[in-house]
Amino acid sequence: MTTPDTTADDVVAGLTLEQKAALASGATVWRTEAVPGVPSILVTDGPHGLRLQQGAADHLGLGASQPATCFPPAVALGSSFDPDLVERVGAALGAEAQSLGVQVLLGPGINIKRSLLCGRNFEYLSEDPLVSGVLGAAMVRGVQSQGVGTSLKHFAANNQEADRFRVSADVDERPLREIYLRAFERVVRDAAPWTVMCSYNRINGLHASRNPWLLSEVLRDEWGFDGVVVSDWGAVVDRVDSAVAGLDLEMPGNQGRSDAELVAAVRAGTLDEGVLDLMATRLVALALRATEAARPDTTYDVDVHHALAREAAAASVVLLQNAPYDGTPLLPLRPGASVAVVGELARTPRFQGAGSSQVEPTRVDDALTSLRAATGEVGFAPGYRLDGEPDADLVTAATEAAAAAEVVILFLGLPAGQESEGFDRDHLELPADQLALLDAVLEANPRVVVVLSNGGVVRLSGLADRVPAIVEGWLLGQAGGAAVADVLVGAINPSGRLAETIPVRLLDSPAALDFPGEHGHVRYGEGLHVGYRWYDARELDVSFPFGHGLSYTTFDWADAKVSSDDTGLTVTVTLTNTGTRAGAEVVQVYAARPGSAVVRAPRELVGFGKVHLEPGESRELTVPVRREDLAYWDVRLTRWVVEPGPYDVHVAASSRNVRATVSVDLAGDEIVVPLHAQSTIAEVVERPAAAAVLAERLGFADGLLSDPVALRAMGTLPIGRLGAFSLGLTAADVDAIVAAGAQ
Ligand code: BGC
Repeated sequence: MTTPDTTADDVVAGLTLEQKAALASGATVWRTEAVPGVPSILVTDGPHGLRLQQGAADHLGLGASQPATCFPPAVALGSSFDPDLVERVGAALGAEAQSLGVQVLLGPGINIKRSLLCGRNFEYLSEDPLVSGVLGAAMVRGVQSQGVGTSLKHFAANNQEADRFRVSADVDERPLREIYLRAFERVVRDAAPWTVMCSYNRINGLHASRNPWLLSEVLRDEWGFDGVVVSDWGAVVDRVDSAVAGLDLEMPGNQGRSDAELVAAVRAGTLDEGVLDLMATRLVALALRATEAARPDTTYDVDVHHALAREAAAASVVLLQNAPYDGTPLLPLRPGASVAVVGELARTPRFQGAGSSQVEPTRVDDALTSLRAATGEVGFAPGYRLDGEPDADLVTAATEAAAAAEVVILFLGLPAGQESEGFDRDHLELPADQLALLDAVLEANPRVVVVLSNGGVVRLSGLADRVPAIVEGWLLGQAGGAAVADVLVGAINPSGRLAETIPVRLLDSPAALDFPGEHGHVRYGEGLHVGYRWYDARELDVSFPFGHGLSYTTFDWADAKVSSDDTGLTVTVTLTNTGTRAGAEVVQVYAARPGSAVVRAPRELVGFGKVHLEPGESRELTVPVRREDLAYWDVRLTRWVVEPGPYDVHVAASSRNVRATVSVDLAGDEIVVPLHAQSTIAEVVERPAAAAVLAERLGFADGLLSDPVALRAMGTLPIGRLGAFSLGLTAADVDAIVAAGAQ
């Protein structure tokens, strides 16, 4: 019998080998196994709504599930740049989980958007690790504040759907640490998710599910994770290897097959029973914690959650462009303007992507109904069919409606069949029939506002220079239609910012030539230069830069200041709302280390903050920058290093719109790389004590050391190799130089 004081250790001490093994895999698709003293718990997708299946279970979003609020998917929430809002969404998700008896929500997904084509980009937050980490942590905090666990996924380097069960993400250590693991590290350290879900793919040849470096050394030993590692559904290749690597729970259940493998391995002496004890202890702790926190009598107000979904969706809409037409921007819509709404997506919204994250919404708002409710009668023409079949009659009716109105709101977007878990997109293009419709509508009436519905970036070059106003509406969840209407009529002032760059063309993008790989390997050839880091380093034009987003008001930025202490930087800037509407601005802080000794992007986001201002209001915004966010991963020292020296701190409205730059000098970390036989002459010369020994032992060293050209020519020679050139340096001499270098 367990009591509130019973510890997981006590429980495990009373379990048989078979019972401990039984805990290590699911009882069903969504439930863990119960053993004496340990209740079963229920886990469910995730991430932007509950997908609780009561009938046939599947992990691909095929079968029916209980109605739940479909909050904006991560692609939208990422654009909010608002951790407080994301935390509130998380808390609402937690409450819904409690009400449905769910103890762990399978999310958030925080994989980096490496390629624009990844079929699951709609489920991920950003191309940038800081945005992914900060917002991912906010989501975990929100859900877990309700006594419901999260499963941070997909750990790690799962950046494509193509060949996802087998492909090896071949990625160098620096990009792995600085880009692909960094957000996971932040969420684990800041928000302590109850569980982490390993991914399907391999990383540098080894499956995540049986990777001791990933699951134990990095996740537990370095980052201090003390929760449960769960497999993605079907990710386990070898149960015993996984156990040794640090994977606690295999999902889904497989009728005891893999439990028997664990038992057999312990009996055969190939698996230490202590490993199983540790796994069982973590699993029991999770079950006890979840059961204690369960509040089965929780109810939630469907209307209140819908309203939150609407607020979050509106905060995630990005106003990409709002150029004046005849002297006045088209948005917000002028009260009383005659409006034609064109596009089937206005009436039949796309508000989430396909696959395991697909939620059965409690209700769905469409933009057409919401616009009519807000503005009275508006004309409507569907313009195209959602199945992509060209329809000339629909185009004719749409151009007639457009010609008769003052302003046309044209809804365009990707077809549902193009964005799903399980496969990637082939291109960035909007459907050809929709682009043909756009041409026809523009001819009938150039006063066009395009509203986009898409989970992954679409190409806007060729469109942006012909359309005065563009609203990026992503996939906004069940209240997205109402939220878009709120933005169009100006009830909400847009404040979303791009969490991913919209490049001019796919071929400009970082992974374009290395995606999705071949023969089981995808080479992350762009290295550290992911997202804006790439476009900035290559000085490429983009359609819309990372961090970009417009408002219906204007902001003045003044008095940018930076101070530093042991914990990092404090950046302050005074913002004034100089327009006539209330609105929110997002301040982005990018750091650069001019003259760095290592490869770095020209600018890296190290902090951001969002501030809401009434018309005429001024406020000083403080953006803290953590010292560790200035660090690079040093492969020689195998640790994070803050390089000493000057840093340029850019206070910016986007990665391409820097409002002020302040330079600071940081003491940084001492970087002492131990000398060894493979250290070069040039490296030895940097250490006076070692250089002195070298000079003493090598007859001609004085000349070498004082002649810059000779030093440059000979400098790459490792000291251990000098013997090979009959230069008289013995192994003992090399040892003496190395020892002197250590002083
Ligand atoms: C997905 C996970 C999901 C799991 C359970 C897998 O196919 O990759 O994100 O949580 O199924 O549905």
